[in-house]
Amino acid sequence: MNDCIIVTGGAGFIGSNFVNDWVKLGLGKVINLDKLTYAGNLANLADIEQNPEHIFVHGDIGHSELVGDLLKLYQPRAVVNFAAESHVDRSIHGPGEFIQTNIVGTFNLLEEARTYWSSLNDADKANFRFLHVSTDEVYGSLSATDSAFKETNAYEPNSPYSASKAASDHLVRAYHHTYGIPMLTTNCSNNYGPYHFPEKLIPLVIHNALNGKPLPIYGNGSNVRDWLYVGDHCTAIRRVLEAGRVGETYNIGGWNEKTNLEVVHTLCDILDQQKPKKSGSYCEQITFVQDRPGHDQRYAIDATKIERELGWKPAETFETGIQKTVAWYLTHQDWVNNVTSGEYKNWVNTNYKERGEELA
Ligand code: NAD
Ligand code: TYD
Repeated sequence: MNDCIIVTGGAGFIGSNFVNDWVKLGLGKVINLDKLTYAGNLANLADIEQNPEHIFVHGDIGHSELVGDLLKLYQPRAVVNFAAESHVDRSIHGPGEFIQTNIVGTFNLLEEARTYWSSLNDADKANFRFLHVSTDEVYGSLSATDSAFKETNAYEPNSPYSASKAASDHLVRAYHHTYGIPMLTTNCSNNYGPYHFPEKLIPLVIHNALNGKPLPIYGNGSNVRDWLYVGDHCTAIRRVLEAGRVGETYNIGGWNEKTNLEVVHTLCDILDQQKPKKSGSYCEQITFVQDRPGHDQRYAIDATKIERELGWKPAETFETGIQKTVAWYLTHQDWVNNVTSGEYKNWVNTNYKERGEELA
């Protein structure tokens, strides 16, 4: 077994942050397997393009032969699985890809990992880790007075996206329980930060605000999410990989519950300071649009377990993280222009026309 890891989905938002940090911190070689769907972007990895510690492989986690060959060739000490279809609204429009990648793809990865792991000697078997990156959305929706999600909460997924992630979490659990493969699962709240694809709330609002377009709020904007800066999520994953108890799940969150309306107002206020309009405030662009079907009301993470067992706490508050994020988008408009050309426009047409808004 070598001191290298295989990361899947490492050209997407969180995966690319994780891979960039890993290589820049000098933590060893990373084999980055990504299908480069609309959400995957090699520009996210431009900083480490020439770095010999990063090997990019264009491919699908559902391709057994490819995954098996990579495991045999590189003999990694860990697999970190970020690869997924990740957008709830897209899962409502077309769940098929979510079933294929999030469930069948993860199953395939697990099967190949099982074959590889079975071939290792006892010491390497004990040291190997398969870390599955999942979401708090598997726990369903909370009312305003419910306690935050603990690792012991029942799974109650409500969207095709969260149901597909829940299914993959169950497979990971079963592969630990049945075959003894050292598995770890993390369930994290909403991330934000650099390289976030502008179909998700925070980058979409920044992008639309700067382009004079409506800032679409689903329903009345009272839905609550817990927000975590992406760099903190990456720190937490590294910590779980290093010291997490095998077979355990760890909830990761920022202790930052905000309504969507609060988030959008905060973004407008920061943009009013960092990039003021000739007249008026960006808040004037806020528009209420038709709600998401089955829209989960509230997510909140109780991150006590990872803090108590592994000493992890987020470094950023929402206030510091969101300032950094807006500043990043203002200085990376080329990246935004690149990812919002082409297919992006079709998605925006599909999602917002039916909500009564023309955003493309
Ligand atoms: P993303 O959509 O930005 O990136 C997903 C990446 O996976 C892309 O690079 C894509 O090309 C790749 N991919 C998709 N299908 C693939 C396949 N079949 N084979 C190989 N690669 C494939 O997603 P993200 O926001 O970076 O999320 C990463 C992971 O973290 C996902 O598993 C998601 O469920 C989980 N997660 C996300 C959040 C969040 O707020 N974004 C929060 C908690 C957990
Ligand atoms: P999103 O970023 O899609 O993440 P998730 O659905 O996984 O939590 O959405 C975050 C919240 O913002 C969610 O409650 C839906 C809402 N939202 C809007 O109000 N308008 C939008 O245009 C988008 C994309 C999301």
